[in-house]
Amino acid sequence: MEEKSDASGHVPVLLPEVLELLQPGRGGIFVDATLGLGGHAEALLDSGAEVRLVGIDRDPDALALAGERLARFGSRVSLVAGRHEDLAEILDGLGVARVDGVLADLGVSSMQLDRAERGFSFMRPGPLDMRMSRAGRSASDLVRDEDRDELERIFWEYGEEPMAGKIARLIVEKRKGAPIDTTDGLRSLVHAAVPRRPGKIDPATRVFQALRIATNQELTGLTRFLDDAIERLSLGSRLTVLSYHSLEDRIVKRTFARHTAVCTCPPSFPACVCARKRVMALVTRQPIRPSDEEVSKNPRSRSARLRAIERTGEG
Ligand SMILES: C[S@@+](CC[C@H](N)C(=O)[O-])C[C@H]1O[C@@H](n2cnc3c(N)ncnc32)[C@H](O)[C@@H]1O
Repeated sequence: MEEKSDASGHVPVLLPEVLELLQPGRGGIFVDATLGLGGHAEALLDSGAEVRLVGIDRDPDALALAGERLARFGSRVSLVAGRHEDLAEILDGLGVARVDGVLADLGVSSMQLDRAERGFSFMRPGPLDMRMSRAGRSASDLVRDEDRDELERIFWEYGEEPMAGKIARLIVEKRKGAPIDTTDGLRSLVHAAVPRRPGKIDPATRVFQALRIATNQELTGLTRFLDDAIERLSLGSRLTVLSYHSLEDRIVKRTFARHTAVCTCPPSFPACVCARKRVMALVTRQPIRPSDEEVSKNPRSRSARLRAIERTGEG
């Protein structure tokens, strides 16, 4: 299948692989828990007239754009503004007990990165905002209010930034003089703390990723979402997750491992007392990665990892 980009140049990542895993041609109710610009969702809906889609996104701009794109599918589509970790409540609100496939394409959309006023990209001068939902504390609020230790923790834990301490110290020193509330302002500050090296990624990359994760609390609800999505799968249906950094992928991998483990008794028990039977199976032992060809056409796909799990029994 040829991968089509939309007006914004957005290309859905690993699209043929996602469709192969979810098999929407069977029909049924599918959830796109991170609708974005609706690229994957549109392909799911195009796969068969019997496909219904519940599309969730916390970004009102994304929801509006996806709504226009998917308008031609009429009542087959239900769009919900919300967080994927509220999946159970969202499905209950729609009167949906079981679903026939779930997709989560985690992280930030190309629209969010490309719009300077959203403040996600250090390549585009704009306000240091980064709020997906456009509500709550912005990245510049965090940079203004958090103490040195917390900023260091954010850069270290969410960006795996080796110079986290130095960057946090410099922020605390510089913000006494003037607010650090623009993307270019923060980028210059990071460059002052960590020299750029030719051929290496821009040191601002890790700091911006870390701040984005902290601003949107991206990791806190992920396990809950995965557990609830698995719970709602009908027999033979799959949850597929695309993640873009090791922190997300680790959570997906561990959650899938927990659901596919047969016995949950502590290793110290001489015999199994939980008598759990296996009701979920891993579909992807190793994550699926984009081909070199896909990465060259769509560089944003380069860090993608796709994992899937299937319901094989009830219980
Ligand atoms: C990578 S984009 C999805 C792109 C989409 N698959 C497409 O083809 O257009 C990720 C989207 O997930 C949304 N998102 C991130 N975290 C979310 C959460 N916890 N709940 C709901 N939406 C979330 C973002 O706002 C963004 O629009």
